[in-house]
Amino acid sequence: MPALTRSPAWKALKAHHKTLAKRHLRELFAADPRRFDQFSLQFNDILLDYSKNRINKETLRLLIALAKQAELKRWIKKILSGEKINNTENRAALHMALRNRSGRDIQVDGRDLMPQVEKSLEHMRRFSDAVRSGTTRGHTHKAFTDVVNLGIGGSHLGPLMVTKALKPYASPHLRLHFVSNVDGSDLADALRGLNPETTLFLVVSKTFTTAETLANARSARKWLLDKLPEEAVTKHFAAVSANPDAAKEFGILANHVFEFWDWVGGRYSLWSAVGLSIAISIGMDNFSELLGGAYQMDEHFIDAPLEKNMPVILGLLSIWYTNFFGAETHAVLPYDQLLRYLPAYLQQLEMESNGKRVTRDGEAVNYATAPIIWGEAGTNGQHSFYQLIAQGTRFVPMDFLAACEAQHTFAEHHALLLANFFAQSEGLMQGQTESEVDGEPARHKAFPGNQPSNSILFRKLDPKTLGALIALYEHKVFVESVIWNVNPFDQWGVELGKTLAKKILRELFMSGKTDSHDSSTNGLINYFKEATKSSPPPSPRERGGKVRVRGNKQ
Ligand code: F6P
Repeated sequence: MPALTRSPAWKALKAHHKTLAKRHLRELFAADPRRFDQFSLQFNDILLDYSKNRINKETLRLLIALAKQAELKRWIKKILSGEKINNTENRAALHMALRNRSGRDIQVDGRDLMPQVEKSLEHMRRFSDAVRSGTTRGHTHKAFTDVVNLGIGGSHLGPLMVTKALKPYASPHLRLHFVSNVDGSDLADALRGLNPETTLFLVVSKTFTTAETLANARSARKWLLDKLPEEAVTKHFAAVSANPDAAKEFGILANHVFEFWDWVGGRYSLWSAVGLSIAISIGMDNFSELLGGAYQMDEHFIDAPLEKNMPVILGLLSIWYTNFFGAETHAVLPYDQLLRYLPAYLQQLEMESNGKRVTRDGEAVNYATAPIIWGEAGTNGQHSFYQLIAQGTRFVPMDFLAACEAQHTFAEHHALLLANFFAQSEGLMQGQTESEVDGEPARHKAFPGNQPSNSILFRKLDPKTLGALIALYEHKVFVESVIWNVNPFDQWGVELGKTLAKKILRELFMSGKTDSHDSSTNGLINYFKEATKSSPPPSPRERGGKVRVRGNKQ
């Protein structure tokens, strides 16, 4: 059994929880008028108010003791030292090297990584400048007007989230599109109305073996070649991969292949050439600002004392709720339409990293790990699921995020938005007793409050601030992983589904009934086969793949 739950720091928190859990946040605020001063931190333009959490000074002291017991500072040094802390894949996890501005070497296997990082950034600058200025053109010499990123997971969510968040910084001459789903509707939707002569595709895949991305890349190629000759592929496709040979084999020009490395995890990769769509959209100077903001947060994470360290505080609060209050979820609620993809991005970051059930050494954990991350941009969520947070039976810790300055001209909207941002964290914390509600039915109108939240308020959603915010969450996830003693950099859980899908794909094109699965899966497959008997979908072989067509024997 892992030692964590038997450790002194854990036991002390458990005992402390018994008394603190009985206290309402209202009470904690009433007892201490300086609560905001005590439980808030500022870093550059970012304010973290964590006073609406179910903690007091003692909680914080005990959580810090837990971090010390887990040797968090030593783990931060380890990650930076290039040690292969992704132990199940024997890899380092050095996304921090991608934004390192310190002038210090960052080494793996005795080799400084910084020269290749710089070279790749320079390659990105040349290419993105040329696309933006129209120097690089398509086969028929027309400038590109549309750029389509084909990728999934970490090769999609980071670029999508950042590109949308930084739309006010984007070139007005280029439209960015993102296709991830193997469902052809995604690609069809993105390509509707586009002109192959002015469309550039970026195939982004660390492995260059991901079925969804390769299917989309093949179909995009076919779409292009319906109008243009074969040699157009060299002009209209670029690739980003840690497997550059596979990208070249696909027909992509060597100079259009952007490399990154196995020491960059997919969900930590937007800082590498995976961010090429971001650089094309906002320009390389703004992309550098994004890296700069993340670098400053890295330095804060490395240097700040634990009790003044933003990612450490967020990580420890998450442990507090997950492991001591039994919280199952954590809601991410950006009061900023530009950040509407942040919940989806953080879902992968946190759930693929820390959704683990064994420790680094393979021992089964006897405590909960990553919560379910979900959310929606404010105020939309208020008109759908906030009712459950207010009066349902669930305990829901939350992060509220908002910018002080708007980046649009509808000035009056921003005060309305921010009023809601302030009101929701207050209301869900305070609640309303039966005697406080306005009229009957008082029982139905009353709600308990006591839902904890962090408020992250920043001056403006500029590239630098966004970089810092993303790095803040990356490090929060790392802090949790250190406490839970899990490897946040592998994702073996996604493999079984991929293997089964390959097998089932073959079966879909075989004649007769499928009987090699459980009765439910057989039943579903056979229903599908029956329903599509008169118009079977084209097999992968017909589309250039390797699978036998229906009618062949198994
Ligand atoms: O299947 C999960 C995953 O491996 C993610 O970790 C990754 O971000 C995504 O697939 C895409 O992988 P790739 O960049 O290799 O196509």
